[in-house]
Amino acid sequence: MVEIDSLLHAGYHNPVQRPWQVERTLTKGTFMYPIFITDEDDALIPIASMPNQYRIGINQLEAFIVPLFAKGLRAVMLFGVPNDSVKDEFGTAADSPNGPVIQAIKLLKSKFSGLLVSCDVCLCEYTSHGHCGYLNADHTIDNTASVKRIAEVAVNYAKAGADNVAPSDMMDGRMRAIKQGLLDAGLSHRVSLMAYSAKYASALYGPFRDAACSGAQFGDRSAYQLPPGSRGLGRRAIERDMREGADIIMVKPAMFYLDIIRDAKELAPDHPIAAYQVSGEYAMIHHAATAGVFDLKTAVLESMTSLQRAGCNLILTYFTPELLEWLD
Ligand code: PBG
Ligand code: ZN
Repeated sequence: MVEIDSLLHAGYHNPVQRPWQVERTLTKGTFMYPIFITDEDDALIPIASMPNQYRIGINQLEAFIVPLFAKGLRAVMLFGVPNDSVKDEFGTAADSPNGPVIQAIKLLKSKFSGLLVSCDVCLCEYTSHGHCGYLNADHTIDNTASVKRIAEVAVNYAKAGADNVAPSDMMDGRMRAIKQGLLDAGLSHRVSLMAYSAKYASALYGPFRDAACSGAQFGDRSAYQLPPGSRGLGRRAIERDMREGADIIMVKPAMFYLDIIRDAKELAPDHPIAAYQVSGEYAMIHHAATAGVFDLKTAVLESMTSLQRAGCNLILTYFTPELLEWLD
């Protein structure tokens, strides 16, 4: 005998009722598409580690975005991929006026009205050693010098027209420095700050480092990205970044860190919460579908739904082009 207090089916038997059981619904506006801009101007190079993703030269960018914008793309995040020859110990190429990111911001803002342009802010793509900040002689992080430079890069992206800046470097105190820099530059009213707050030292960034040529030449990032097992540091980083002026709180990676997304939602209930489904998650889902483990569309939509259920409002994903198609 089934007891009265066991009965759940009736609440979702009729399909019309199912959305009523769901916290949020996926829309095209949920997604931000991370793209790689190379300084080879005419190039459109497939990225071996990330199926269907490209390094895009500035002369290919408009044609690349046109069909996506027509399908409803409203937010991109830019990553610069400079040539090895321009890398130096200061990451000078990060904000050079003729560099890929500054050029891409200007092009996208002039051609696509209504497209939000966000910029990842970090030095690892631009430093000769491949670390996310400046190093001391003993290869530890020089936090003070790093923060100063990262804030300078963020403000230069904002000056070039970026709508959002998103520091992924994990230096201490960079949110405050960037926010102050935006304020001093008279840009704080129109440029938002998205904090990669709970960013863990993950195995899942491998394909990205291949795509962006940003792997560290020695050592690893464990002294600035968070230890994967730590919930406490994630929570403290979220609280700190809220105090330091972050407008959006991000958790990264996404699927192995759903508990942290939920923590973020609880700690920052009045901020939008973002989740970054990173390159390794993307590659994993892709290869599993290709191997016949599951249907790609079903699995991707489920992964997105799970991120929303955990508490996020905004999802950065390389599946954005497919999602724009599927949500039609
Ligand atoms: C740069 C940066 C990384 C990612 C976003 N910004 C790589 C890293 O920290 O090594 C990862 C994105 C992805 O894997 O898709 N600091
Ligand atoms: Zn970095």
